[in-house]
Amino acid sequence: MMQLSASISSSSSPFLGQINTNYRTPRVSVSVKSNGVCKCVAATPQAPVEETAYTTKVSRNVNMSKLQAGYLFPEVARRRSAHMLKYPDAHVISLGIGDTTEPIPDVITSAMAEKSHSLSTLEGYSGYGAEQGDKKLRAAIASTYYGDLGIDESDIFVSDGAKCDISRLQILFGSNVTMACQDPSYPAYVDSSVIMGQTGQFQKDVEKYGNIEYMRCTPSNGFFPDLSTITKTDIIFFCSPNNPTGSTATREQLKQLVEFAKKNGSIIVYDSAYAMYISDDSPRSIFEIPGAKELTFHLGLSLDLASHSPFPLRTREQVAIETSSFSKYAGFTGVRLGWTVVPKELLFSDGFPVARDFNRIVCTCFNGASNIAQAGGLACLSPEGLKAMRDTVGFYKENTDIIVDTFNSLGFDVYGGKNAPYVWVHFPGRSSWEVFGEILEKTHLVTTPGSGFGPGGEGFVRVSAFGHRGNVLEACKRLKQLYK
Ligand SMILES: Cc1ncc(COP(=O)(O)O)c(C=O)c1O
Repeated sequence: MMQLSASISSSSSPFLGQINTNYRTPRVSVSVKSNGVCKCVAATPQAPVEETAYTTKVSRNVNMSKLQAGYLFPEVARRRSAHMLKYPDAHVISLGIGDTTEPIPDVITSAMAEKSHSLSTLEGYSGYGAEQGDKKLRAAIASTYYGDLGIDESDIFVSDGAKCDISRLQILFGSNVTMACQDPSYPAYVDSSVIMGQTGQFQKDVEKYGNIEYMRCTPSNGFFPDLSTITKTDIIFFCSPNNPTGSTATREQLKQLVEFAKKNGSIIVYDSAYAMYISDDSPRSIFEIPGAKELTFHLGLSLDLASHSPFPLRTREQVAIETSSFSKYAGFTGVRLGWTVVPKELLFSDGFPVARDFNRIVCTCFNGASNIAQAGGLACLSPEGLKAMRDTVGFYKENTDIIVDTFNSLGFDVYGGKNAPYVWVHFPGRSSWEVFGEILEKTHLVTTPGSGFGPGGEGFVRVSAFGHRGNVLEACKRLKQLYK
Protein backbone atom coordinates (compact mmCIF):
# COMPACT_ATOMS: atom_id res chain seq x y z
CA MET A 1 0.00 0.00 0.00
CA MET A 2 2.85 2.38 0.72
CA GLN A 3 4.09 1.96 -2.80
CA LEU A 4 0.61 2.61 -4.10
CA SER A 5 0.16 5.85 -2.23
CA ALA A 6 3.65 7.02 -3.15
CA SER A 7 2.84 6.62 -6.81
CA ILE A 8 -0.50 8.33 -6.50
CA SER A 9 0.87 11.32 -4.63
CA SER A 10 3.44 11.96 -7.31
CA SER A 11 0.87 12.20 -10.07
CA SER A 12 0.92 15.26 -12.29
CA SER A 13 -0.78 18.40 -11.05
CA PRO A 14 -2.26 21.14 -13.19
CA PHE A 15 -1.93 23.52 -10.25
CA LEU A 16 1.74 22.73 -9.86
CA GLY A 17 2.30 22.61 -13.58
CA GLN A 18 3.31 19.58 -15.58
CA ILE A 19 5.34 17.28 -13.37
CA ASN A 20 7.77 15.01 -15.11
CA THR A 21 8.04 11.77 -13.19
CA ASN A 22 10.33 10.05 -15.67
CA TYR A 23 13.05 9.52 -13.14
CA ARG A 24 10.74 7.53 -10.85
CA THR A 25 10.21 3.90 -11.63
CA PRO A 26 6.46 3.34 -11.55
CA ARG A 27 6.05 0.76 -8.80
CA VAL A 28 2.36 0.12 -9.32
CA SER A 29 0.61 -0.07 -12.63
CA VAL A 30 -2.85 -1.40 -11.87
CA SER A 31 -5.25 -0.71 -9.07
CA VAL A 32 -8.58 -2.52 -9.07
CA LYS A 33 -11.00 -2.13 -6.19
CA SER A 34 -13.64 -4.74 -5.60
CA ASN A 35 -15.49 -5.62 -2.40
CA GLY A 36 -13.06 -3.87 -0.08
CA VAL A 37 -10.04 -5.45 -1.70
CA CYS A 38 -7.55 -3.47 -3.71
CA LYS A 39 -5.42 -5.50 -6.12
CA CYS A 40 -2.12 -3.96 -7.01
CA VAL A 41 0.26 -5.36 -9.57
CA ALA A 42 3.84 -4.27 -9.03
CA ALA A 43 5.34 -3.28 -12.37
CA THR A 44 8.99 -3.67 -11.61
CA PRO A 45 11.15 -5.06 -14.40
CA GLN A 46 11.32 -8.29 -12.38
CA ALA A 47 8.49 -10.79 -12.28
CA PRO A 48 5.20 -9.03 -11.51
CA VAL A 49 3.87 -9.80 -8.03
CA GLU A 50 0.20 -9.44 -7.26
CA GLU A 51 -0.47 -7.86 -3.88
CA THR A 52 -3.86 -7.79 -2.22
CA ALA A 53 -4.50 -4.86 0.07
CA TYR A 54 -7.26 -4.67 2.64
CA THR A 55 -9.39 -1.52 2.43
CA THR A 56 -11.62 -0.15 5.19
CA LYS A 57 -15.21 0.89 4.57
CA VAL A 58 -14.43 4.52 5.33
CA SER A 59 -14.86 6.74 2.32
CA ARG A 60 -12.26 9.33 1.57
CA ASN A 61 -12.99 12.93 2.56
CA VAL A 62 -14.25 14.38 -0.73
CA ASN A 63 -12.50 17.66 -0.03
CA MET A 64 -9.15 15.90 0.22
CA SER A 65 -9.74 14.36 -3.17
CA LYS A 66 -10.21 17.84 -4.65
CA LEU A 67 -6.61 18.77 -3.77
CA GLN A 68 -4.18 18.75 -6.64
CA ALA A 69 -1.21 16.43 -5.98
CA GLY A 70 1.15 17.31 -3.14
CA TYR A 71 1.65 20.54 -1.27
CA LEU A 72 4.08 22.70 -3.26
CA PHE A 73 7.12 22.64 -1.01
CA PRO A 74 7.29 18.87 -0.44
CA GLU A 75 7.08 18.54 -4.23
CA VAL A 76 10.03 20.90 -4.68
CA ALA A 77 11.93 18.95 -1.99
CA ARG A 78 11.10 15.67 -3.76
CA ARG A 79 12.55 16.97 -7.03
CA ARG A 80 15.62 18.22 -5.22
CA SER A 81 16.16 14.74 -3.73
CA ALA A 82 15.69 13.14 -7.14
CA HIS A 83 18.27 15.55 -8.57
CA MET A 84 20.73 14.68 -5.82
CA LEU A 85 20.30 10.99 -6.59
CA LYS A 86 21.00 11.72 -10.23
CA TYR A 87 24.04 13.90 -9.45
CA PRO A 88 25.40 12.56 -6.14
CA ASP A 89 28.57 14.67 -6.33
CA ALA A 90 26.90 17.97 -7.19
CA HIS A 91 26.89 20.83 -4.69
CA VAL A 92 23.16 21.50 -4.73
CA ILE A 93 22.23 24.92 -3.32
CA SER A 94 18.68 25.59 -2.24
CA LEU A 95 17.17 29.01 -2.69
CA GLY A 96 13.89 27.20 -2.81
CA ILE A 97 11.45 26.48 -0.05
CA GLY A 98 12.13 29.57 2.05
CA ASP A 99 13.57 27.87 5.10
CA THR A 100 15.95 29.91 7.23
CA THR A 101 19.63 28.95 7.36
CA GLU A 102 21.42 31.17 9.88
CA PRO A 103 21.89 30.04 13.50
CA ILE A 104 19.49 31.31 16.12
CA PRO A 105 21.16 34.16 18.08
CA ASP A 106 22.72 33.02 21.34
CA VAL A 107 20.68 35.38 23.50
CA ILE A 108 17.60 33.46 22.36
CA THR A 109 18.92 29.88 22.56
CA SER A 110 20.40 30.63 26.02
CA ALA A 111 16.94 31.53 27.28
CA MET A 112 15.53 28.32 25.79
CA ALA A 113 18.35 26.25 27.30
CA GLU A 114 17.73 27.82 30.70
CA LYS A 115 14.02 27.08 30.44
CA SER A 116 14.76 23.56 29.32
CA HIS A 117 17.06 22.92 32.31
CA SER A 118 14.61 24.44 34.75
CA LEU A 119 12.11 21.80 33.66
CA SER A 120 14.39 19.28 35.40
CA THR A 121 13.86 20.99 38.73
CA LEU A 122 10.91 20.79 41.08
CA GLU A 123 10.61 24.55 41.23
CA GLY A 124 11.02 25.09 37.51
CA TYR A 125 8.86 22.29 36.17
CA SER A 126 5.65 23.20 34.41
CA GLY A 127 3.26 21.11 32.37
CA TYR A 128 0.44 22.35 30.19
CA GLY A 129 0.37 26.12 29.96
CA ALA A 130 -2.46 28.42 28.95
CA GLU A 131 -3.74 27.50 25.49
CA GLN A 132 -3.58 31.18 24.51
CA GLY A 133 0.07 31.44 25.54
CA ASP A 134 2.17 32.76 28.36
CA LYS A 135 0.80 36.03 29.70
CA LYS A 136 4.19 37.75 29.65
CA LEU A 137 4.82 36.75 26.05
CA ARG A 138 1.35 37.88 24.96
CA ALA A 139 2.00 41.24 26.62
CA ALA A 140 5.46 41.52 25.02
CA ILE A 141 4.05 40.76 21.53
CA ALA A 142 1.27 43.31 22.02
CA SER A 143 3.62 46.07 23.16
CA THR A 144 6.44 45.32 20.68
CA TYR A 145 4.43 44.96 17.50
CA TYR A 146 1.16 46.75 18.24
CA GLY A 147 2.25 49.30 20.86
CA ASP A 148 -0.04 52.18 19.99
CA LEU A 149 -2.47 50.34 17.73
CA GLY A 150 -5.16 49.54 20.26
CA ILE A 151 -4.24 45.85 20.55
CA ASP A 152 -3.74 44.46 24.02
CA GLU A 153 -2.34 41.22 25.39
CA SER A 154 -5.72 39.51 25.60
CA ASP A 155 -6.11 39.93 21.80
CA ILE A 156 -2.97 37.86 21.20
CA PHE A 157 -3.10 34.06 20.78
CA VAL A 158 0.39 32.56 20.87
CA SER A 159 0.75 29.52 18.63
CA ASP A 160 3.09 26.97 17.11
CA GLY A 161 3.31 29.05 13.93
CA ALA A 162 1.32 31.07 11.43
CA LYS A 163 0.71 28.12 9.12
CA CYS A 164 -1.01 26.17 11.90
CA ASP A 165 -3.07 29.24 12.76
CA ILE A 166 -4.21 29.62 9.16
CA SER A 167 -5.78 26.15 9.39
CA ARG A 168 -7.25 26.88 12.82
CA LEU A 169 -8.80 30.05 11.40
CA GLN A 170 -10.32 27.99 8.61
CA ILE A 171 -11.85 25.65 11.18
CA LEU A 172 -13.22 28.74 12.92
CA PHE A 173 -14.87 30.00 9.72
CA GLY A 174 -16.19 26.58 8.69
CA SER A 175 -17.21 25.37 5.29
CA ASN A 176 -19.97 27.84 4.51
CA VAL A 177 -17.86 30.93 3.93
CA THR A 178 -16.43 32.21 0.69
CA MET A 179 -12.83 33.32 0.48
CA ALA A 180 -10.54 35.49 -1.62
CA CYS A 181 -6.77 35.45 -1.77
CA GLN A 182 -4.00 37.06 -3.76
CA ASP A 183 -2.96 35.19 -6.87
CA PRO A 184 -0.16 34.19 -6.54
CA SER A 185 -0.11 33.51 -2.80
CA TYR A 186 1.27 31.28 -0.07
CA PRO A 187 -0.42 27.92 -0.83
CA ALA A 188 -1.70 27.29 2.72
CA TYR A 189 -4.66 29.67 2.25
CA VAL A 190 -6.07 27.92 -0.79
CA ASP A 191 -5.29 24.37 0.31
CA SER A 192 -6.83 24.84 3.77
CA SER A 193 -9.90 26.35 2.14
CA VAL A 194 -10.22 23.30 -0.11
CA ILE A 195 -9.78 20.94 2.83
CA MET A 196 -12.49 22.78 4.79
CA GLY A 197 -14.92 22.32 1.91
CA GLN A 198 -15.26 26.01 1.07
CA THR A 199 -14.47 25.43 -2.61
CA GLY A 200 -15.68 23.65 -5.67
CA GLN A 201 -13.62 21.27 -7.75
CA PHE A 202 -10.34 22.23 -9.36
CA GLN A 203 -11.02 23.61 -12.82
CA LYS A 204 -8.21 22.48 -15.05
CA ASP A 205 -8.88 24.99 -17.84
CA VAL A 206 -8.28 28.01 -15.57
CA GLU A 207 -6.16 26.20 -12.96
CA LYS A 208 -8.37 27.49 -10.17
CA TYR A 209 -10.70 25.96 -7.60
CA GLY A 210 -14.35 26.88 -7.96
CA ASN A 211 -15.75 29.34 -5.41
CA ILE A 212 -12.42 30.97 -4.55
CA GLU A 213 -11.94 34.57 -5.63
CA TYR A 214 -8.41 34.79 -7.00
CA MET A 215 -7.18 38.40 -6.76
CA ARG A 216 -4.65 38.61 -9.57
CA CYS A 217 -1.43 40.43 -8.58
CA THR A 218 0.94 41.17 -11.43
CA PRO A 219 3.57 43.75 -12.33
CA SER A 220 0.90 45.62 -14.33
CA ASN A 221 -1.22 46.34 -11.23
CA GLY A 222 1.78 46.84 -8.95
CA PHE A 223 0.95 43.47 -7.30
CA PHE A 224 -2.16 44.97 -5.72
CA PRO A 225 -5.52 43.65 -7.00
CA ASP A 226 -7.96 45.84 -8.84
CA LEU A 227 -10.65 45.71 -6.15
CA SER A 228 -13.31 47.05 -8.51
CA THR A 229 -13.22 43.68 -10.28
CA ILE A 230 -13.21 41.54 -7.14
CA THR A 231 -16.35 39.70 -6.12
CA LYS A 232 -17.46 40.11 -2.53
CA THR A 233 -16.37 37.27 -0.23
CA ASP A 234 -16.69 36.61 3.49
CA ILE A 235 -12.98 36.19 4.12
CA ILE A 236 -10.06 37.91 2.40
CA PHE A 237 -6.60 36.42 2.93
CA PHE A 238 -3.98 39.08 2.33
CA CYS A 239 -0.22 38.73 2.82
CA SER A 240 2.15 41.71 2.92
CA PRO A 241 5.09 41.61 2.40
CA ASN A 242 3.89 38.96 0.05
CA ASN A 243 5.14 35.47 -0.36
CA PRO A 244 5.98 34.77 -3.21
CA THR A 245 6.11 38.12 -5.06
CA GLY A 246 8.02 39.98 -2.34
CA SER A 247 5.78 42.99 -2.92
CA THR A 248 4.48 45.14 -0.07
CA ALA A 249 1.15 46.94 -0.02
CA THR A 250 1.34 50.68 0.59
CA ARG A 251 -0.70 52.49 3.23
CA GLU A 252 -3.01 53.82 0.53
CA GLN A 253 -3.57 50.34 -0.89
CA LEU A 254 -4.31 48.86 2.52
CA LYS A 255 -6.77 51.68 3.19
CA GLN A 256 -8.56 50.62 0.00
CA LEU A 257 -8.53 47.02 1.15
CA VAL A 258 -10.00 47.89 4.56
CA GLU A 259 -12.66 50.07 2.91
CA PHE A 260 -13.48 47.23 0.54
CA ALA A 261 -13.81 44.77 3.44
CA LYS A 262 -16.01 47.19 5.38
CA LYS A 263 -18.26 47.83 2.39
CA ASN A 264 -18.75 44.08 1.93
CA GLY A 265 -18.84 43.13 5.60
CA SER A 266 -15.80 40.85 5.07
CA ILE A 267 -13.08 39.81 7.50
CA ILE A 268 -9.47 40.30 6.38
CA VAL A 269 -6.98 37.67 7.53
CA TYR A 270 -3.73 39.58 7.24
CA ASP A 271 -0.50 37.57 7.15
CA SER A 272 2.41 39.72 8.35
CA ALA A 273 4.99 36.94 8.71
CA TYR A 274 7.60 39.12 6.94
CA ALA A 275 6.75 42.51 8.47
CA MET A 276 10.21 42.96 10.03
CA TYR A 277 11.71 42.89 6.52
CA ILE A 278 10.01 46.19 5.68
CA SER A 279 12.50 49.03 5.47
CA ASP A 280 10.33 51.78 3.97
CA ASP A 281 7.20 53.34 5.45
CA SER A 282 4.80 50.58 4.32
CA PRO A 283 2.54 49.46 7.17
CA ARG A 284 3.87 46.59 9.25
CA SER A 285 0.43 45.67 10.53
CA ILE A 286 -3.11 45.90 9.18
CA PHE A 287 -4.05 47.54 12.47
CA GLU A 288 -2.10 50.63 11.36
CA ILE A 289 -4.94 51.31 8.95
CA PRO A 290 -7.79 53.42 10.28
CA GLY A 291 -10.94 51.35 10.16
CA ALA A 292 -9.14 48.10 10.87
CA LYS A 293 -8.66 49.36 14.41
CA GLU A 294 -9.94 52.93 14.59
CA LEU A 295 -11.70 54.10 17.73
CA THR A 296 -14.95 55.76 16.82
CA PHE A 297 -16.96 57.77 19.26
CA HIS A 298 -20.67 57.77 18.68
CA LEU A 299 -22.92 60.39 20.13
CA GLY A 300 -25.29 59.00 22.68
CA LEU A 301 -25.29 58.02 26.28
CA SER A 302 -23.25 55.19 27.65
CA LEU A 303 -25.08 52.02 28.49
CA ASP A 304 -23.22 51.98 31.78
CA LEU A 305 -26.39 52.46 33.77
CA ALA A 306 -24.68 52.03 37.12
CA SER A 307 -22.65 55.17 36.71
CA HIS A 308 -25.15 56.97 34.46
CA SER A 309 -22.06 58.15 32.64
CA PRO A 310 -22.69 61.01 30.25
CA PHE A 311 -19.69 60.00 28.11
CA PRO A 312 -20.21 58.92 24.52
CA LEU A 313 -20.47 55.19 23.85
CA ARG A 314 -17.17 53.84 22.58
CA THR A 315 -17.16 51.35 19.73
CA ARG A 316 -14.40 50.04 17.49
CA GLU A 317 -14.90 49.11 13.91
CA GLN A 318 -12.87 45.99 13.40
CA VAL A 319 -12.50 44.07 10.16
CA ALA A 320 -9.20 42.26 10.55
CA ILE A 321 -7.36 39.36 12.10
CA GLU A 322 -3.57 39.27 11.84
CA THR A 323 -1.31 36.24 11.91
CA SER A 324 2.45 36.39 12.27
CA SER A 325 5.50 34.39 13.27
CA PHE A 326 9.00 34.28 14.73
CA SER A 327 10.02 31.84 11.98
CA LYS A 328 11.66 34.25 9.58
CA TYR A 329 12.94 36.74 12.16
CA ALA A 330 14.70 34.48 14.62
CA GLY A 331 15.19 31.28 12.61
CA PHE A 332 12.30 29.63 14.47
CA THR A 333 11.11 27.56 11.49
CA GLY A 334 12.04 24.46 13.49
CA VAL A 335 11.42 25.81 16.99
CA ARG A 336 7.82 26.75 16.00
CA LEU A 337 6.35 29.91 17.49
CA GLY A 338 3.89 32.41 16.08
CA TRP A 339 0.81 34.35 17.05
CA THR A 340 -2.56 35.49 15.83
CA VAL A 341 -4.29 38.72 16.82
CA VAL A 342 -8.07 38.52 17.06
CA PRO A 343 -9.31 41.83 18.45
CA LYS A 344 -12.22 41.39 20.80
CA GLU A 345 -14.18 44.07 18.92
CA LEU A 346 -14.28 41.95 15.74
CA LEU A 347 -17.81 40.58 15.51
CA PHE A 348 -19.73 38.06 13.45
CA SER A 349 -22.94 39.18 11.76
CA ASP A 350 -24.97 38.17 14.82
CA GLY A 351 -22.78 40.30 17.07
CA PHE A 352 -20.88 37.36 18.59
CA PRO A 353 -17.16 38.13 19.17
CA VAL A 354 -14.91 36.25 16.74
CA ALA A 355 -12.24 36.02 19.46
CA ARG A 356 -14.51 33.99 21.70
CA ASP A 357 -15.02 31.38 19.02
CA PHE A 358 -11.33 31.41 18.14
CA ASN A 359 -10.52 30.88 21.79
CA ARG A 360 -12.80 27.85 21.75
CA ILE A 361 -11.05 26.48 18.65
CA VAL A 362 -7.63 27.04 20.20
CA CYS A 363 -8.69 25.31 23.43
CA THR A 364 -10.08 22.38 21.45
CA CYS A 365 -7.39 21.91 18.79
CA PHE A 366 -4.26 23.08 20.55
CA ASN A 367 -2.70 22.72 23.97
CA GLY A 368 -0.51 25.80 23.91
CA ALA A 369 2.88 26.46 22.33
CA SER A 370 5.93 24.69 23.76
CA ASN A 371 7.04 26.37 26.97
CA ILE A 372 10.66 26.25 25.77
CA ALA A 373 9.75 27.95 22.50
CA GLN A 374 7.81 30.59 24.41
CA ALA A 375 10.84 31.30 26.61
CA GLY A 376 12.73 31.82 23.35
CA GLY A 377 9.98 34.13 22.12
CA LEU A 378 10.25 36.24 25.22
CA ALA A 379 14.02 36.49 24.71
CA CYS A 380 13.38 37.51 21.08
CA LEU A 381 11.47 40.52 22.36
CA SER A 382 14.09 41.64 24.89
CA PRO A 383 16.20 44.62 23.71
CA GLU A 384 19.12 42.25 22.90
CA GLY A 385 16.79 39.78 21.20
CA LEU A 386 15.21 42.47 19.05
CA LYS A 387 18.64 43.66 17.98
CA ALA A 388 19.67 40.08 17.19
CA MET A 389 16.52 39.54 15.10
CA ARG A 390 17.11 42.80 13.22
CA ASP A 391 20.68 41.68 12.51
CA THR A 392 19.43 38.33 11.19
CA VAL A 393 16.83 40.02 9.01
CA GLY A 394 19.51 42.50 7.83
CA PHE A 395 21.77 39.61 6.82
CA TYR A 396 19.05 38.03 4.66
CA LYS A 397 18.26 41.45 3.17
CA GLU A 398 21.88 41.75 2.05
CA ASN A 399 21.48 38.35 0.37
CA THR A 400 18.38 39.70 -1.33
CA ASP A 401 20.35 42.66 -2.72
CA ILE A 402 22.97 40.29 -4.14
CA ILE A 403 20.30 38.19 -5.86
CA VAL A 404 18.39 41.22 -7.20
CA ASP A 405 21.63 42.74 -8.58
CA THR A 406 22.49 39.45 -10.27
CA PHE A 407 19.18 39.12 -12.11
CA ASN A 408 19.16 42.84 -12.96
CA SER A 409 22.64 42.57 -14.44
CA LEU A 410 21.40 39.70 -16.60
CA GLY A 411 18.58 41.85 -17.97
CA PHE A 412 15.65 40.12 -16.22
CA ASP A 413 12.60 41.94 -14.90
CA VAL A 414 12.91 41.44 -11.15
CA TYR A 415 10.30 42.24 -8.50
CA GLY A 416 10.14 42.10 -4.72
CA GLY A 417 13.30 41.82 -2.69
CA LYS A 418 13.14 45.30 -1.19
CA ASN A 419 10.94 44.56 1.83
CA ALA A 420 10.95 40.78 1.70
CA PRO A 421 13.38 37.86 1.49
CA TYR A 422 11.92 36.80 -1.86
CA VAL A 423 12.91 37.82 -5.37
CA TRP A 424 10.29 37.29 -8.08
CA VAL A 425 11.91 36.86 -11.48
CA HIS A 426 10.02 37.03 -14.74
CA PHE A 427 10.65 34.54 -17.54
CA PRO A 428 8.06 35.78 -20.05
CA GLY A 429 6.39 33.12 -22.17
CA ARG A 430 7.98 30.23 -20.31
CA SER A 431 6.51 27.66 -17.94
CA SER A 432 7.65 28.11 -14.34
CA TRP A 433 8.30 24.39 -13.87
CA GLU A 434 10.33 24.32 -17.08
CA VAL A 435 12.53 27.19 -15.83
CA PHE A 436 12.77 25.55 -12.40
CA GLY A 437 13.93 22.35 -14.13
CA GLU A 438 16.40 24.20 -16.35
CA ILE A 439 18.01 26.02 -13.42
CA LEU A 440 18.19 22.81 -11.36
CA GLU A 441 19.58 20.69 -14.17
CA LYS A 442 22.15 23.20 -15.40
CA THR A 443 23.27 24.90 -12.18
CA HIS A 444 22.22 22.54 -9.35
CA LEU A 445 20.23 25.41 -7.81
CA VAL A 446 16.79 24.86 -6.30
CA THR A 447 14.28 27.68 -6.79
CA THR A 448 10.48 27.60 -6.55
CA PRO A 449 8.26 27.63 -9.65
CA GLY A 450 5.87 30.57 -9.55
CA SER A 451 2.88 28.60 -10.85
CA GLY A 452 2.94 26.56 -7.64
CA PHE A 453 1.57 29.65 -5.90
CA GLY A 454 -1.43 29.95 -8.22
CA PRO A 455 -2.07 30.54 -11.92
CA GLY A 456 -0.95 34.17 -11.56
CA GLY A 457 2.57 32.91 -10.82
CA GLU A 458 3.02 31.23 -14.20
CA GLY A 459 6.08 32.54 -16.01
CA PHE A 460 7.81 33.51 -12.76
CA VAL A 461 10.32 31.84 -10.48
CA ARG A 462 10.73 32.70 -6.80
CA VAL A 463 14.28 32.92 -5.51
CA SER A 464 14.60 32.89 -1.76
CA ALA A 465 17.30 34.91 0.03
CA PHE A 466 17.55 32.41 2.88
CA GLY A 467 21.03 30.96 2.51
CA HIS A 468 24.60 31.14 3.79
CA ARG A 469 26.43 34.04 2.15
CA GLY A 470 28.93 31.76 0.40
CA ASN A 471 26.10 29.74 -1.11
CA VAL A 472 24.24 32.82 -2.29
CA LEU A 473 27.39 34.18 -3.95
CA GLU A 474 28.09 30.81 -5.56
CA ALA A 475 24.46 30.54 -6.72
CA CYS A 476 24.66 33.98 -8.32
CA LYS A 477 27.91 33.04 -10.06
CA ARG A 478 26.23 29.97 -11.55
CA LEU A 479 23.17 31.98 -12.63
CA LYS A 480 25.46 34.49 -14.36
CA GLN A 481 27.11 31.64 -16.25
CA LEU A 482 23.76 30.15 -17.26
CA TYR A 483 22.03 33.32 -18.42
CA LYS A 484 24.95 35.52 -19.59
C1 LIG B 1 3.28 34.06 4.15
C2 LIG B 1 3.62 33.01 5.13
N1 LIG B 1 2.82 32.81 6.17
C3 LIG B 1 3.09 31.85 7.06
C4 LIG B 1 4.19 31.04 6.94
C5 LIG B 1 4.42 29.95 7.93
O1 LIG B 1 4.96 30.43 9.08
P1 LIG B 1 5.22 29.49 10.33
O2 LIG B 1 6.58 28.93 10.20
O3 LIG B 1 5.05 30.41 11.49
O4 LIG B 1 4.17 28.43 10.33
C6 LIG B 1 5.05 31.22 5.87
C7 LIG B 1 6.23 30.36 5.73
O5 LIG B 1 6.93 30.32 4.77
C8 LIG B 1 4.75 32.23 4.95
O6 LIG B 1 5.54 32.44 3.89
